[in-house]
Amino acid sequence: MRVLVTAGPTREFIDPVRFISNRSSGKMGYAVARAARDRGHEVVLISGPVAARQPPHGVRLVPVVTAAEMLAAVESNLDWCDALLMSAAVADWRPADLSDRKLKKADRLAELRLEPTADILLTIAPRKGSRTFVGFAAETHNLLSEARRKLDRKGLDAIVANDVSRSDAGFDVETNQVVLVTKDGLAQEWPLMSKAAVAERLVAWVETSRGVTASPGKPVPAGLDGAPADGRLTRQMDFIREIDKLKCVFRRTLLMDGSRYENDAEHSWHLAVMAVLLKEYANEPNLDLEQVIKLVLVHDLVEIDAGDTYCYDVAGHLDKAAREQAAADRIFALLPGDQGAVIRRLWEEFEERETPEARFAAALDRVQPLLHNYFTGGQIWAKHGIGSEQVRERNQHVEDGSRALWNYAESLIREAVKQGFLKP
Ligand code: CTP
Repeated sequence: MRVLVTAGPTREFIDPVRFISNRSSGKMGYAVARAARDRGHEVVLISGPVAARQPPHGVRLVPVVTAAEMLAAVESNLDWCDALLMSAAVADWRPADLSDRKLKKADRLAELRLEPTADILLTIAPRKGSRTFVGFAAETHNLLSEARRKLDRKGLDAIVANDVSRSDAGFDVETNQVVLVTKDGLAQEWPLMSKAAVAERLVAWVETSRGVTASPGKPVPAGLDGAPADGRLTRQMDFIREIDKLKCVFRRTLLMDGSRYENDAEHSWHLAVMAVLLKEYANEPNLDLEQVIKLVLVHDLVEIDAGDTYCYDVAGHLDKAAREQAAADRIFALLPGDQGAVIRRLWEEFEERETPEARFAAALDRVQPLLHNYFTGGQIWAKHGIGSEQVRERNQHVEDGSRALWNYAESLIREAVKQGFLKP
């Protein structure tokens, strides 16, 4: 496919040094350009001024500044493209008068008269033909109805809507939580993911809607011994590549320094280290440590498809099991049959919490986020209005795997209440 992407803000000048613009960082659009390139498509990226306007390798960059320049660049690349992904935050207004010299304080600019810029998607709508047009809608209110209104008005195939009032989605953050609204009226809510993962899913959606398949430039080579492309090592490598996506599934837990959300791969690694160090606190004296490590390493793999369900999210838990079963069916089937069955069994053992190893693994899986919440001053608890009774109830089963760790967890909860960052 030939994919045209727009990214970043535009600037509308008042005089040679002053302009009006918006908070767009261009991260989403650049991620879309990279994802399209990685999936084997030709990409042209029209970018407004962003911090690092480096074209991703293999992508042709068209730098622009104003909405009018962006419109001209889109118009001149339109015939070439099969799909347009319009993620730029185009300024809606520009100063009605542009001063060609720097205005002075003494000029006493009492008011700034604005006029609308051209709406790019609306202007090019008559030339759409069989092309796929995807818009983006950043909203603070009425997310879905606004997205649907824009989709209809601009004649789009889909619109990616996100709530920019959230701190973990939208402007200048690495993650995004979007709803994809398509022209058949359906709305798919995607889990909180990195912008790279959102971009990949979006490009995959465009491919499916156009009946195109991805042709990533880097196929997994056949086995070193010249084994066939569908051989054992190839399938193992395919799986290894697939689970890289776990690094893009973000949890509702902040890193202990509060700098960003933790991803599922980091969480799993942390549990594995904790298992090695804290084995002596397991209720079962003859615990099989290797089994615990295996359990924690695979326990979240299904979230690659199913997403992270926040532990206090009641609605999310209703269909969690079904989503995770479907994910397990797809992901574990990538491995050779014998290994797929072993890894799936590990995941099931963790979920069932019947064996002492699974109970201890589950205890670690609860204590670790508790530590993160404690060390970040309960920010996430506060954000979701969680109180100490909910935390206690949710984490009670730590006791089934380790009474000692449960005592520790209880002291953390008490201390958090005492320090005032967890509601009593
Ligand atoms: N867009 C565009 N030209 C503009 C403004 C926006 O092509 N002058 C595109 C954006 O790139 C985005 C989509 O339209 O893909 C929706 O942008 P948004 O700013 O949310 O919509 P507006 O039409 O400006 O609506 P409103 O100001 O009412 O929110």
